[in-house]
Amino acid sequence: MSELKTAAPPPFRSLFITDDTKAYLDGNSLGRLPRRTVAYLQQVIAEQWGKNLISGWNAHWLSMPARIGNKIGQLIGANPGETIVSDSTSVNLFKLARALLKKSGGRVKIISDRSNFPSDLYVLGDLGGSDRREHTDGAMDVELLDFEMCGFESMSQRVCDAIDDETALVSLSHVHYKSGFAYDIESITRAAHQRGARVLWDLSHSVGVLPMQLGAWNVDAAVGCTYKYLNGGPGAPAFLYLRSDLHSAVDNPIRGWFGAMNPFSFSVDYIPSPDIQRFLVGTPPILSLAAIEPGVDLVLEAGIEHLRERSIQLSSEFIALFTERLLALGFTIQSPLDATLRGSHVSLGHPNAWQITKDLIQRFSVIPDFRAPGTIRFGFAPIYTTRDELHRAIEAMELSIQSQSYLNFSADIQGVT
Ligand SMILES: Cc1ncc(COP(=O)(O)O)c(C=O)c1O
Repeated sequence: MSELKTAAPPPFRSLFITDDTKAYLDGNSLGRLPRRTVAYLQQVIAEQWGKNLISGWNAHWLSMPARIGNKIGQLIGANPGETIVSDSTSVNLFKLARALLKKSGGRVKIISDRSNFPSDLYVLGDLGGSDRREHTDGAMDVELLDFEMCGFESMSQRVCDAIDDETALVSLSHVHYKSGFAYDIESITRAAHQRGARVLWDLSHSVGVLPMQLGAWNVDAAVGCTYKYLNGGPGAPAFLYLRSDLHSAVDNPIRGWFGAMNPFSFSVDYIPSPDIQRFLVGTPPILSLAAIEPGVDLVLEAGIEHLRERSIQLSSEFIALFTERLLALGFTIQSPLDATLRGSHVSLGHPNAWQITKDLIQRFSVIPDFRAPGTIRFGFAPIYTTRDELHRAIEAMELSIQSQSYLNFSADIQGVT
C-alpha cells in the first residue's frame, strides 16, 4: 500500500476519533471509537428507544444479533446464517464447547495450549476436570500442551501430532494473545477431522486483521471478541460461529428464551430454534450491539486483504526498528519473525517491562499494554495505526532506557494497562 511508504495516515483513520498527541498501539485490546458509532448510537437512543419504545424490537432490534453476525461472518469466511452476536467470548466458548462435547461419542480428551488466554483455559478446564480420570461421569481430560517450547515454526504441526483417537475437541486461540503467533487453522482443522475430533477456535485476536475461510476450511465452531480490531466498544458482546450442518445436531447448554424457536409464544416447553439463533440465551444488550455495527462496516469497507497487507508492513517495520535500536538495550522479541506466522501485534520482553510500560504511557503518551510477567504488547490496527505511532514507540523505549526514566515508576504491578 503506497500510503505506508509515504508517511500518510491510512485512509480510514479520519473516520475514527483520534488524538494525535497519543501514539495508540492498543487496538488489539480496545479498538478506537468510529465517528459513525457516535451518530448511530445517538439515533438508536433518541429515535428507536426514545420515541419508538417497545416497537423498536420488531422494527429494529430482534434482527440485530443475526444481522451483525452475518457481517462478521463475511470477515471470517462463513456462510450466511452461521454467525451470531451474543454474550461474551468466554460464555460463547462454554456454550459451544459444552454442546460439541456432549456429542463426542465417548471421547475424553480436549487439547489446548497451556498458555492460551486464561478465560478459555478456565472454561475448558471446568468442562474437563483433569483430576477425574475415570470418565464414568462424562468428565474429560484436558491436555494442555506447551507448544511454545518447540518454537513457532513447528507449533501447528505439534498440535496436529497430538490429536489422537481419544481427542474430542481441539480448542485454541487462532492468534495467541501474548506472542501474536497465528496457528494454522486449516491444517489443524483437517488433522482433527481426520481423527474424528472437532475444533473450536477463538478468533479474538485475528478477526478484522487476518483473512479467514472458515467455510472452506470446514471449521466446526468459533468465537471471538468484537471490542478489539472490530472496534465495537468496551465490553461489546462477542460473536459465535457454528457450521450450519451442526445447528440441529448440538444443543445450547444454557437454555434461554431467545434461543427458543418462538420466544414470544411463552411456551413452557423449550423447543430450540432450528438455526444459529438457538445459541442466543437472554435479551440481547441492544445499545452495546448497536455500537458494534459501524466498526464492522468500516472493516468490511476497508477490505480484509488490504488490511492484512498493511498490518504486515507495520509489524515488520516495527520488528526491523526493534532489531536496529532496541535489541542492544535488553529487549527481546517474543513474537514470530516470520510475518506469515504472526497476527497483528508484536510483543517485546524486558526485565523491567512493567515500569517501561508505565513510563511509555505517562511520560511519552505512547500506549501499548503490559501482560505479566514481562511482556509489552504493541498492537497494529491497520485501519487506523500510523507509521508515526510505531516510530514514536521505538523512540520512547530507547529514551526510557537511556535516561533510565522508567525507574521513576514502582516495580509493583497494579491495575490495567
Ligand atoms: C483470546 C481471548 N479470548 C477471550 C477473551 C475474553 O473475552 P470476554 O471477556 O468477552 O469473555 C479475551 C479478552 O481479551 C481474549 O483476548
